[in-house]
Amino acid sequence: MAGVGSLAVPDCGASSSDADSAPDRHTASATAHRPARAVPPCTGPVKHRPAGPDLVIGILAAVTPQAPQPSAEHLAEPMRSRWSASVYDDAHRLGDDEIETLLHAAQWAPSAGNSQPWLFFVCVPGTANHDRLVATLSRGNSGWVPRASVVFVTAAHVRSGDEPEAPAFSDYALYDVGQAAAHLTLQATAMGLHAHQFAGFDHDALADALGVPATHRLLTGIAIGVPGDPAQVDERTAARDHRDRVRKPLGEWVRHGRYDEPA
Ligand SMILES: Cc1cc2nc3c(=O)[nH]c(=O)nc-3n(C[C@H](O)[C@H](O)[C@H](O)COP(=O)(O)O)c2cc1C
Repeated sequence: MAGVGSLAVPDCGASSSDADSAPDRHTASATAHRPARAVPPCTGPVKHRPAGPDLVIGILAAVTPQAPQPSAEHLAEPMRSRWSASVYDDAHRLGDDEIETLLHAAQWAPSAGNSQPWLFFVCVPGTANHDRLVATLSRGNSGWVPRASVVFVTAAHVRSGDEPEAPAFSDYALYDVGQAAAHLTLQATAMGLHAHQFAGFDHDALADALGVPATHRLLTGIAIGVPGDPAQVDERTAARDHRDRVRKPLGEWVRHGRYDEPA
């Protein structure tokens, strides 16, 4: 579709692990915490059980598949506990007020010049937007995204006009939308929900279905929900919640001097 930039979309159906997470081969694991519902059995290591105000999160960490890895243990909540779950309870629904709270988290994200160049499509199961999204999901995402309680699809206001040479709306629009998405996912974690972002869908097809104009670029989906029963999903989807969460060491991407002077 004109004006909708084509993005490099990971082929998440290609293997049991996400193609998009391939570079993550280094450290860190985080915990899920969630409201009182059926939770998956604890099969992963629980590295850290916090005390005090974090007690509830710590207890829930013991019964969810992921727990903070050493370099995440000292982070503040909800960064410490966030991780991208894939097994959702497809019977769970969020109230309109909860959906609005999540959107308020995005609303209050900082942006260049307070431009707020984001657009969020709300896709609740059973609605036309949800059908439009599900029809465009990659194979790897079609097993888990539809089970989430709500999915937000993000877009950035990237151009001032529809003509191809129209000036960019903001050089920082993508940065700003990413930041709004991060705020929303962290708010979800703080509300005891899971959030899993994804780019594996046919961007052009979904932009067409949603009527996205050339001034905007469709970016990502953010699936939000609560953990479901792994027995209700295919084996590969169930296994995703138990894979190692890893990160590059700081030494690979932090510079205290010039680019060619790694720490
Ligand atoms: C822009 C973006 C695109 C992503 N695309 C997908 C995707 O298509 N499918 C998927 O299962 N996960 C996707 N993810 C989730 C990442 O794989 C995940 O965040 C990463 O492996 C780190 O794991 P964690 O979120 O549990 O820390 C995406 C995340 C981001 C931020």
